[in-house]
Amino acid sequence: MDKNHFQSSLLSWFRKHQRDLPWRHTKDPYKIWLSEIMLQQTQVATVIPYYDRWIKQFPTAESVADAPEEKILKLWEGLGYYSRARNLQAACREVVEKYDGKVPDSLEEIQKLPGIGRYTAGAILSIAFNKPVPLVDGNVIRVLSRLFAMKKNPRKFQVLFWDQAEKLLFKKEPGTFNQALMELGATVCTPANPSCLICPVNSFCLAKKKGIQEQLPLSPKRAKTQIIHLASALIRQNGKILLCQRKETGHLKGMWEPPTIPIQKQNNTRQGLINFLQKSGFEIQIVGNSISLQTSRLHFRLRFQLFQAKLIRENTPSS
Ligand code: ADE
Repeated sequence: MDKNHFQSSLLSWFRKHQRDLPWRHTKDPYKIWLSEIMLQQTQVATVIPYYDRWIKQFPTAESVADAPEEKILKLWEGLGYYSRARNLQAACREVVEKYDGKVPDSLEEIQKLPGIGRYTAGAILSIAFNKPVPLVDGNVIRVLSRLFAMKKNPRKFQVLFWDQAEKLLFKKEPGTFNQALMELGATVCTPANPSCLICPVNSFCLAKKKGIQEQLPLSPKRAKTQIIHLASALIRQNGKILLCQRKETGHLKGMWEPPTIPIQKQNNTRQGLINFLQKSGFEIQIVGNSISLQTSRLHFRLRFQLFQAKLIRENTPSS
């Protein structure tokens, strides 16, 4: 492949067709970092208002470091994967303490910060600091798989994709090049019905030549989703709802929810909830039938049976 020709075709397309996104108007490493963390597992359209609100509230790493955790989590509410927000705050605190509030610009140091893996490090270093560091995300994997007709499981052969991304990188403008590759994956080289006719690099694409672009990348079988059954009691009094905080370990750690217990079998669910609340000093009565709710994450699904309950008595726990 003529690498120079590939790079210039991709870059001139990107310069003309890139989406106008708020984080593309800055080189501030903190803002680039924030955008990359928000964009993990979340669509661009969802992220934009969150990013704008966040930057207004927390314009610097220092302001994140100084904020109470509840404020951080409140602003993150709705984005999901809250460990991203917690890690971001822990990392901002480290940036303030160790690096005088300046995001480090070396691969070694930046990757030691909580929540910054190889992809995020590559994005921050290339986009904000213009360092010639590659990156590989889901979009890049798709583009590279098709470009080189790579029939390898991307999870098992990650190293091949990183090597290709490094070889292809335009070292004079690594940040623009990395974003262009991701943008191509997001808007043209899409998972289904890729727009090969308007692709700026279609003449380089081996998968297109072979007519196998829709079969790539090879999608490895996902691990089976774990289903967790839970029962919760919705207890309202004087316009308030009783909430408990989850433990700092396990699923949805530290989040607030109505009192909830794990259930194995459907029988004894009501009594289980009554007993659980009694131990914390709440005497309740369950009223009516339950409704079912579920929330899914990548590797697990929480299925709740939600019961309405009435608070009969609150006993102050004996000391
Ligand atoms: N996906 C995540 N970060 C991106 C960026 N900076 N440009 C394009 N797509 C992205």
